[in-house]
Amino acid sequence: AAAAQAPGDLDGARIVITAGGTREALDPVRFIGNRSSGKQGVALASAALRRGATVTLIASHLDVAPPGGVTLVSAPSATELQQAVTDAAAEADIVIMAAAVSDYRPAEVLDAKIKKEDTGTELTLRLVQNPDILAGLAASARPGQKIVGFAAETTPGEDELLEIGRAKLARKGCDFLVVNRVGWNEGFALDTNSIVVLGKGGNVVLEASGTKLEIADRILDAVTSGVPVR
Ligand code: CTP
Ligand code: CA
Repeated sequence: AAAAQAPGDLDGARIVITAGGTREALDPVRFIGNRSSGKQGVALASAALRRGATVTLIASHLDVAPPGGVTLVSAPSATELQQAVTDAAAEADIVIMAAAVSDYRPAEVLDAKIKKEDTGTELTLRLVQNPDILAGLAASARPGQKIVGFAAETTPGEDELLEIGRAKLARKGCDFLVVNRVGWNEGFALDTNSIVVLGKGGNVVLEASGTKLEIADRILDAVTSGVPVR
């Protein structure tokens, strides 16, 4: 395992990180969301900043405060996240998609509250698929630009977790995929994490457990080895 590098080793690197969970509006007061706290993405931003990188943090809903010193862009929904990260990626050496992006959004967003008396005892919501932002970034990456995805899986077995991760990495076309297990009591909102990072060919380039800040440094070590820093 590589030792954590000295502060300042990412001087000049431009890193874009998405963090948190998107929310898809149903009406002015309701949304479809997920349990992402944004902690791992915020830890990545803190670690990258400390090591000298220029960091743009694209924040969906965060349960923790973003570090001072980042360029903060708010992106509540998947559509807004896609716009923000695509714009920021044009000037980035590394893009890390730690955000939990909603796979679907309501087919229509109502201007007035959905009323119980109008809908009855059952309500069916029609959802449409959001674009795959990570796959789009990977497909249009500049030479040398590194695109990093995350995959939170509920699969219990280690072998199956890696198998799912490898298939996802291939499908997305990204350079690295950070895989972690999540469950009712695992992953979300905690200050610790346990991850496996797959490299482009599906090989395991890093396994790490620890605080989300410790893991952030290890992930940065793995994805920046070989990245020229100006
Ligand atoms: N992601 C994305 N755009 C989406 C959905 C996900 O960019 N519309 C990104 C996430 O930010 C993450 C990676 O893709 O970095 C993997 O997300 P995940 O939900 O695990 O992948 P999916 O392809 O949506 O597969 P699943 O059916 O397991 O949800
Ligand atoms: Ca998904």
